Amino acid sequence: MNKNISIDEIKNKVKHISESYKDESIGGYMCGGGPVSSDILFVGEAPGKNEIIEGKPFVGMAGKTLDDYLNLANIKREDIRITNTCLFRPIKIKQGKNGRETISNRTPKPSEVELFREVLDAEIALVDPKIIITLGNTPLKRLTKFKSIGECHGKLYFNEKLKMYIYPMYHPSSLTYNRKESFKTAYEDDWKNLKEVLKRILTAK
Ligand code: URA
Repeated sequence: MNKNISIDEIKNKVKHISESYKDESIGGYMCGGGPVSSDILFVGEAPGKNEIIEGKPFVGMAGKTLDDYLNLANIKREDIRITNTCLFRPIKIKQGKNGRETISNRTPKPSEVELFREVLDAEIALVDPKIIITLGNTPLKRLTKFKSIGECHGKLYFNEKLKMYIYPMYHPSSLTYNRKESFKTAYEDDWKNLKEVLKRILTAK
């Protein structure tokens, strides 16, 4: 892993990869946010419209949910680094019956995730966190061997390759799609557990 790359070089790589990409439509690109060196790194899927406009991760609807749960777990947003697995906004464009175009987000294709492999590896090396919290299936599959978030959420794993802890969580927007009370309770429990996990691993020598 390249430990010597600077944040400006990472930003330049993201710009170059995104501006050279011609296979599919994309709606802009952005980089991670927060302190460049941090004990805690959150990795999401890909930015949406609001993230591109503001140039910051998780500032739209999913970001509001994330903020609520960060509060619950006593985590200050200014202390953590947040980035994404794919750093451009993957979009699909549909032509409505009235001829109007609608643009929506889509999940990044595996090949699009691969475009940012080197960049994400470099960001992880630079941030050098003690724990990576993956949000949803996209970063989970990119950084672990798990196939689905359902099998591993809310548990702490040690990644031998990275020499870091990984704590898989559901993506905050899953609360918008899954309205069951039992899901909300399970989601909250994962955050409460994260609070305890952080107390344990961040104070350990
Ligand atoms: N969803 C993500 O996965 N990342 C963001 O930055 C915003 C929403």
